[in-house]
Amino acid sequence: MDKNFYITTPIYYPSAKPHMGHAYSSILADFFARFMRIQGYDVHFLTGTDEHGQKIQRAAEKENKDPQLFCDEISKIFSDLSKTLNLSNNDFIRTTEKRHKESVTHLWNILEKKKEIYLSKYSGWYSVSDEAFYNEDELEEKNSIKVSKMSGSPVEWVEEESYFFKLSKWQEPLLKFYADNPNFIMPESRKNEVISFVKSGLKDLSVSRKSFSWGIKVPSNNEHVIYVWLDALTNYLSALNYPNKDNELYKNFWPASLHLIGKDILRFHAVYWPAFLLAADIIPPLRVYGHGWILSNDEKMSKSKGNILDPVQIIKKYGIDPLRYYLIKEVSFGNDGSISKDKLESCINSDLANNFGNLCQRVVAFISKNLNMKIPSSHSFNDDDKKVLNIYKENSTNLINFIENQDINSYMNFIQERLFSANKYFNDQEPWNKKKDVQRLDTIIYVSLELIRKLSILLYPVIPDSSLKVLKMFNITEKNIDFKSISNHDFLKASSDINKISILFKKIENND
Ligand code: MSP
Repeated sequence: MDKNFYITTPIYYPSAKPHMGHAYSSILADFFARFMRIQGYDVHFLTGTDEHGQKIQRAAEKENKDPQLFCDEISKIFSDLSKTLNLSNNDFIRTTEKRHKESVTHLWNILEKKKEIYLSKYSGWYSVSDEAFYNEDELEEKNSIKVSKMSGSPVEWVEEESYFFKLSKWQEPLLKFYADNPNFIMPESRKNEVISFVKSGLKDLSVSRKSFSWGIKVPSNNEHVIYVWLDALTNYLSALNYPNKDNELYKNFWPASLHLIGKDILRFHAVYWPAFLLAADIIPPLRVYGHGWILSNDEKMSKSKGNILDPVQIIKKYGIDPLRYYLIKEVSFGNDGSISKDKLESCINSDLANNFGNLCQRVVAFISKNLNMKIPSSHSFNDDDKKVLNIYKENSTNLINFIENQDINSYMNFIQERLFSANKYFNDQEPWNKKKDVQRLDTIIYVSLELIRKLSILLYPVIPDSSLKVLKMFNITEKNIDFKSISNHDFLKASSDINKISILFKKIENND
């Protein structure tokens, strides 16, 4: 079995500071990367910034800054955010890097050589904010301004000489590709949208611009810069040292296992990207997953509404793990989800502090008082014990399948049920009343510790810092977490010492 896994986030526009939507894409990708690593996969996890194009050029002009300098500053904020979000990315790519420009130039040359690109003239609508061309039927008037129906962004009329990619020629091959690879686009509802868009007819795509200069030059014609989406999408290859196909990164990690993106950029990833790749004889990625949007108090975030959620502020107040937990568990993956102070606080209190945190603290406090901070020396499982333990073994394959199908909700439901069940087990078994039956008391504690260990492993991709704090009790470090070990009920070594743990989550007492 191929044990390599290549996962990517979208590369973010450094046109403004990151917001919660960016944090969401990144945290979810990190969740998958971490889960695959503890399953023994060699994971390559890529994120970065998308720095060319008119949107960035204009944003830099507005601040009277050189675009490169402007990008350097904001890209740094994004790469700092990766650390704040505790992302385990292996690389951070910037499209202004030499390695990237070389890849894009190479890909362009191949497409030109294969006669997939020709020179003509573009006249039509363009949204600088989306960096996208729109047909008339994709637009509507709002307050006498023409905007995209999909994104609401204003469009402007563009008429200029442009190179075109023969997208129309790829309509049938794309439909065949979707049919042959039914899991290429996920979730299912989004796949249908894409297929009907392709079926409705593809026009050739303008892939160069002449009216501004901030981009990678068309190699054969320096008056043009390459369309920013052709430039940006290629980051997934340039980070693997494409065009050097003999290098280890490319050999091990292409085709990408999963491009995780927001639903608004599905067309670029599920239509244009595989078409460019098929045209260049490169295998398309295995899957593109379009997640939903994060709403702020149920509304779309926007500068004018003043409801843009800053992940850094939220993390300062609540910590990174609570935010990660909230976004992974409370947002139904694939759909839009809302975040508000009240919901986040109640999630921290009920799931993290009262459920997981409480379980750990109670069990450890009991061991500290009665067992001298040692794992019990012997145990003998009765039916109650086997029942709570076996569920992990019985569901181990299901859990892997959930993640392989990006069914995070089922994965999180399982954890939630197990957390309740572990607390209930500890309550019902009443170890504090078993002091005269040492064998039983020891077994209850051993089972409780095993449950804590298994739950911490399942929670590691979600709340890595907190999970590692708990696993440290058993001297389990990040490098030796093994997902398979959730099926082993005798993992913990009898009589060994347990390390102390600090408070995991603080309950939020007031509502101000
Ligand atoms: N630069 C392009 C992506 C190029 S990938 C080859 C881009 N950048 S972006 O900064 O505008 O958006 C990056 C990601 O953030 C997209 O996946 C987008 O869907 C996501 N989000 C932006 N706002 C969002 C929310 N409010 N909620 C969730 N994600 C959203 O597009």
